[in-house]
Amino acid sequence: MKQHLKFVLIFLFASVFANDVPVLDDLHDAVEQGLAQVESMLDLESQLIAKGLTVDRGTSAHLHSLMVGNSGSQQQKDSALNAVRILAASSHLKNKLNWSADQARRSLPQLSLDKTALKNSCPESITCPSSNVTIKYRPIDGSCHNLFRPDWGKANTPFQRALPNAYSDGVFEPRNSPSSPLKSPRVVSTSFIKPASTTASDFTLMLMTWGQLITHDLTKASSFTSADGKTPQCCNVTSGQPLDREYLHPFCLSIEIPVNDQFYSKYNQTCMSFVRTQIGADYSCSFGHAEQLNSITHWLDGSMIYGSSSSELSDLRLGQGGELKNSTTSDGKELLPLRSSCSDATCYYAGDVRAQENPQLAVVHTVMMREHNRIARALKQLNSLWSEEVLFQETRSIVIAELHHITYTEYLPAMLGEQAMRDYNLNPSATDAYSTYDETTARDPSVWNEFAAAVFRVGHSQVQGTLVLYNASDDQVPDQSFTLSSYFFDASKLPQPGFIDNAIRGLTKQMPLAINAEYTSQLTNYLFKGSNPYGMDLVALNVQRGREHGIPDYNTVRVFCGFPKANTFDDLASEIDQATINSLKNAYDSVDDIDLYIGCLAESAQPVNGSLLGPTGLCVVAKQFAVTKNNDRFFYDVGNQPNSFTMVQLNEIRKTSLARILCDNNNGDVSTMQPKAFRAPDATSNNGRQPCSSIPSINLTAWKDAKASPNKASVVAPSVLLAFIFIPSLLMYIFIIDTQDHQC
Ligand code: HEM
Repeated sequence: MKQHLKFVLIFLFASVFANDVPVLDDLHDAVEQGLAQVESMLDLESQLIAKGLTVDRGTSAHLHSLMVGNSGSQQQKDSALNAVRILAASSHLKNKLNWSADQARRSLPQLSLDKTALKNSCPESITCPSSNVTIKYRPIDGSCHNLFRPDWGKANTPFQRALPNAYSDGVFEPRNSPSSPLKSPRVVSTSFIKPASTTASDFTLMLMTWGQLITHDLTKASSFTSADGKTPQCCNVTSGQPLDREYLHPFCLSIEIPVNDQFYSKYNQTCMSFVRTQIGADYSCSFGHAEQLNSITHWLDGSMIYGSSSSELSDLRLGQGGELKNSTTSDGKELLPLRSSCSDATCYYAGDVRAQENPQLAVVHTVMMREHNRIARALKQLNSLWSEEVLFQETRSIVIAELHHITYTEYLPAMLGEQAMRDYNLNPSATDAYSTYDETTARDPSVWNEFAAAVFRVGHSQVQGTLVLYNASDDQVPDQSFTLSSYFFDASKLPQPGFIDNAIRGLTKQMPLAINAEYTSQLTNYLFKGSNPYGMDLVALNVQRGREHGIPDYNTVRVFCGFPKANTFDDLASEIDQATINSLKNAYDSVDDIDLYIGCLAESAQPVNGSLLGPTGLCVVAKQFAVTKNNDRFFYDVGNQPNSFTMVQLNEIRKTSLARILCDNNNGDVSTMQPKAFRAPDATSNNGRQPCSSIPSINLTAWKDAKASPNKASVVAPSVLLAFIFIPSLLMYIFIIDTQDHQC
């Protein structure tokens, strides 16, 4: 009866919006066609694999696949394939009913799959442990943070959208222009991007690397892989030309390079490989448009350190003293653990596969792993009876709290400015105060697709092409300084004597590039080049990613952020300077065509006062970090939760800083640091380098015999047990002595 009513409602709803209203047979037909389409995709996939048309080692596409590849379990891959079946059925339904993109966008999600052959293809709902209310430590996969919506924030769930999708068919076709087709992302890149020249002189390159680190905590859109885990090849690697249509995997969306491209023409390349992102079905189990999966947890929860699944975590844990695994250099320094077998450039691993994408990032990962182990050892000293599990989880909570504190009190104020921190309510609570969390009013914490696939990527323009390292006398170390493209996914420099400390000094001294339309060619021509003379173009990849995720254009997002819609390019003049408007005119035919990522780069040349971003970029980044903070029961300053820190502990965490963490976890040769590590070391602005010992540090005695632990039993039990053994033995001893005394 309930089902019947649902169908009638759907029918009424659909009649309002659609010319053609689906009947049950339409749904069945669409599902049948969708299933058949996916079967032929799987057949094609087997043929492609048999022909060796998957990405080869040694190509840029291979290194790119390490960055965006899918390392999910078979179950996750099966579930993603089911999402493709649902999507194919949705496309067929839309076409059959002749729906416009808008009708498809609105009506498809209202149609349940309940009565169709796909009803069992939707994700199963999540059950949390019944004692869930007292969960003290974040579940590693991000689930069960909110009891009403245990799926919220979980790894392998879709990104959410701030705005309706902009797929050109409302379902899955990449965004396009209503007037003339959008220019190729490579053409957009070459028409708009200029060579790097402006630096952000008040800041350090660490600002860029921390941005990348927290990106890898929040978001990872894995690209589609075939059933056996291989990445489809989307260009002919031998000729550099597009593949024949018959060999193209449906998830390929390679980027066209014009024959006269200023750089790639030298190498005869007219095709840049690109695979679309894995999609997922949501829990509503309905027809609908594509939603890309975030394969890591959506929370800021240290997933790049600890992983996003229990199997990843168990690979990372040492199993003793609450510590993380590591390897050691010849001079006894801790490095990230090494894989037992591996064939890529270096074999370190962390909670995120991108950890060694560049050496600077690998250095910061190493520092964070060391920080975990430093804290674990200190807690063990203080609480020798704590179980390994309690030691690990308490340490993990502290490290995550440090990540929160540094991100919200150091990184975001540097990127967004103090004013935006206030306007968007991003400041954590002050000393001696908690913030509140209400489960009943908390919203979906998932990362916004607009943030991940477009806006936050503006951080790429901060990347320097050459990394300069400094020794303890603050002199450059030319033989350790390096060009980025020679070391993508190659952390072989890390064990070199002095490298980590010289890199820490370099990251906290060298300036980042300003966020604007200027890019290092290391990213626009040589990304992941390996030993080849050319690589990929990250700007083009970002543009293509935004389009294939159905991210709305810049003008639409401006309006969402409260700015007037521009009718002509020149209407952008209040936010974008004239020279940049002119390059936008080269890249696009209409002001409505501008890709969100490009628009945000364009307006960052005139940043909002106190920020490094322009107004739309700032709005999206600030709103995202507000979503991430305000909906997290485990956020470090939230009070009245089973997981909450005591006020004494919280006040200790508030003393933490990136500067102090770098001081505590280097190879022993970094003895001075500026207190604000993201800001240039400059005595005149009260941020000169000073002895590490004068930088405040967290006093871990606040964790001595933590009372609030639900694992109190495991902490207290051994002491109770000891008391049981000890007191009777003592009494017995006194009794014997006493008796002996009497006998004498
Ligand atoms: C050397 C430094 C960096 C390199 C080489 C790099 C490279 C990449 C690559 C190859 C991708 C995937 C592109 C695709 O969609 O196919 C990516 C994604 C991304 N990057 Fe970077 N990146 C760097 C630093 C940064 C920084 C500093 C930020 C931000 C402050 C950032 C933010 C992002 C974001 C938000 C994504 C999307 C992640 C996802 O959802 O999968 N990256 N980056």
